[in-house]
Amino acid sequence: MLFIESIRCSKCGREYSIDDNPIMCINRDLGRLDFFYDYGRVGRVLDRDEISRRPMSGVWRYAELMPVEAKYAPRLVEGGTPVIHAKNLGGELGFRSLYLKDETRNPTASFKDRAMALGVAKAFEMQKNDVVIASSGNAASSLAAYAASLGLRCTAFVPENVSEGKTAQLLLFGARVIRVRQVEEGKDPTVEMMMETVEELGWYPCPSFGPFNPYQVEGPKTITYETIEQLNWKPPDVILVPTGSGCLLTGLWKGLQDLKQLGIIDSYPKLVPVQPEGNKPLIRAIRENKRFEEIEPEKWPHSIASGLLDPYPWDGDAALEAVRRTNGTGIAVSDDEITEAVKLLARKEGIFAEPSGAVGVAAAAKMKEEGIIDASDDVVILVTGSGLKESEKITKLYQKTPVIEPTVDQLMKYIKP
Ligand SMILES: Cc1ncc(COP(=O)(O)O)c(C=O)c1O
Ligand SMILES: [Zn+2]
Repeated sequence: MLFIESIRCSKCGREYSIDDNPIMCINRDLGRLDFFYDYGRVGRVLDRDEISRRPMSGVWRYAELMPVEAKYAPRLVEGGTPVIHAKNLGGELGFRSLYLKDETRNPTASFKDRAMALGVAKAFEMQKNDVVIASSGNAASSLAAYAASLGLRCTAFVPENVSEGKTAQLLLFGARVIRVRQVEEGKDPTVEMMMETVEELGWYPCPSFGPFNPYQVEGPKTITYETIEQLNWKPPDVILVPTGSGCLLTGLWKGLQDLKQLGIIDSYPKLVPVQPEGNKPLIRAIRENKRFEEIEPEKWPHSIASGLLDPYPWDGDAALEAVRRTNGTGIAVSDDEITEAVKLLARKEGIFAEPSGAVGVAAAAKMKEEGIIDASDDVVILVTGSGLKESEKITKLYQKTPVIEPTVDQLMKYIKP
């Protein structure tokens, strides 16, 4: 049973029913089809106690706040990731209460699994055979795994320089992988190819961008539900969010509103998107107080944080609203700061993140230095993707490891006892 009250396009306001199986607004205006829930009915079933009684795993733990019936759920079991009190990293950066929500522990090692669980379940319900995606790699490898688990065929349009780890995942899960080169400034050619196949071949679009697939926003809501429960239902002061298209940020914001509507929380943490210096259209809009309609795409995005290179924040409308309504801000970090963050997170806490997944650590350091957040603030950093996906970038940062004959003499050339 679903608890949806209405579904409305964020651009033109057109209303849909769940029986229409809505994916994209039929006006093709790139509005997102937002789901609104009947909180009166949800609240009669779901409160803190009821949530706590359920096993901490899978997005359908919160079935009453999901737009797809649990009977279509894939079997991979995403979510239920830990919140770690990062005492060493907190000490290093000067925070008393620094927490890491470790999303690297999802089935395909990024938070995208929460989104794809729902996206693929809907495709399965609609009896679609072909799902298609435009992605820098994480969403694609996640879609490929979830599609494999339900026997759907996946085609992935990815950037030319997609990492080996993500490519290996895609190939192994049986996806057809097509790398597409950017030839025009400000345009994401993978999105254009995806839409060609949607229009021409009738494939089901499953990128993790709200305007192309609204189910994508609903899965990541569960990050907020889990995090706040794991902090004993006390919202933190700040959540730092690696951001590309803004879909994750939109999901977190919807999750917070759900909890407030249900009376489970009564205040919001500040939501703070983090983008790389080489691609920061959303941060620019926040800092320059621009409206969504005024956002200019980044012409030629570039950064070591390959997951955050969407030239245009498709979900920027809700992302801006999230920042403004929670009193948040936005911050950009350089590739050097990101590299340092990857190393620090690994050495201080034993967590191996890809550069895109570690930008929140760089942001925490920078915001502390700039006095934007305080030593006494409760800060949550979302660590969104695993370093194993981009290990070639990491090994490049170190000298070659030595090879020795098995003698102590040889060993002593390389280490001090
Ligand atoms: C590791 C990682 N973190 C964060 C993001 C950003 O998510 P969004 O595009 O929803 O803003 C991505 C997107 O690909 C990602 O791969
Ligand atoms: Zn519309």
